[in-house]
Amino acid sequence: MITLPGLIDVHTHLRVPGGEHKEDFATATAAALAGGITMVLGMPNTSPPLSTPSRLTAAMAMAERDARCDVGLFAAAEPGQLHHLPTLAETAVALKIYLNDTFGRLRVDKMPDLATCFRDWPRHKLIAMHAEKQSVAVGIGLAATYNRSVHFCHISRAEEIDLIADAKGRGLPVTCEVTPHHLFLNEADATRLGALGDMRPLLGTQKDVDALWAHINDTIDCIATDHAPHTLAEKRADNPPPGVAGLETSLPLILTAVSQNRLTLDRLITLMHDNPRRIYSLPEQPETAVDIEMRPSIIRNSDMHSKCGWTPFDGMDAAARVMRVTLRGDIVFENGRVLAEKGSGRVGM
Ligand code: NCD
Ligand code: ZN
Repeated sequence: MITLPGLIDVHTHLRVPGGEHKEDFATATAAALAGGITMVLGMPNTSPPLSTPSRLTAAMAMAERDARCDVGLFAAAEPGQLHHLPTLAETAVALKIYLNDTFGRLRVDKMPDLATCFRDWPRHKLIAMHAEKQSVAVGIGLAATYNRSVHFCHISRAEEIDLIADAKGRGLPVTCEVTPHHLFLNEADATRLGALGDMRPLLGTQKDVDALWAHINDTIDCIATDHAPHTLAEKRADNPPPGVAGLETSLPLILTAVSQNRLTLDRLITLMHDNPRRIYSLPEQPETAVDIEMRPSIIRNSDMHSKCGWTPFDGMDAAARVMRVTLRGDIVFENGRVLAEKGSGRVGM
């Protein structure tokens, strides 16, 4: 048995409003607890997106009603709505800017809009970016120009992690996260899995995967799930949406890597708790812990608490299982059962 602090996932798609058939605050936060995660930061590419104060406030109210663990929400940078940024910053945990296309339509590709984000978003709150390939260089350039921190979401390619390593080497204020699926799956898995292995960024080559692992102890700041649930029916239909679930498999997979000496348990805690908390200035969760049993167990779709009910890791061996989660002194997950009530999570960071 080992005990960890409550983990923090800084990249979760909670799907409220507009995607409640895929996931909602009650089911996503149940999945989080089952995965040893006691705080999630929700992405704003909902329908409609969280780019206006009234939408953000309404989503926060739904989270307060339903969440079983602690939740912060990102504001979306949406062209045409950027005058709302200062008001959004009063409640949002951070700002999300999409530089590339993905699920939802939030791409910001005009320089004046990017400049507005960097000028008008308050400096004490972070800017996170979805940036792939050369867009990473755009983000680094903006961080340098405006002398403010940028956090890069789900970095997945060798050339991207190398560029971020060089930027950090020059002292630029950038941080980054990687996902378990980019650490454990490659393009051969994408072929095997079809739509169930399709997400943005796409799965990389084995060389990309190796490059991420080579930077696990230095350049990479956080492991984040990019939990992006879609229903099996949507995935099996024409034009399936990109995205895979990840809240319940992240910790078992990373602990498997610990058991294989690919990283230390201390490094896991840094990547999944300490750095997320420091980078996003998140509050401490007192009397909060995750008890783990280091025993082989197989990841199964049928064990998932996420509403989508499937994982790209179905059938894979993991070296550990979450046995019990305690949040602020209450047992909220034990022996496969989520015990936290709806509405017991704290909302807003
Ligand atoms: C995400 C989603 O479904 O919202 N999909 C994905 O493939 N990662 C969007 C995103 O995070 O880019
Ligand atoms: Zn995402």
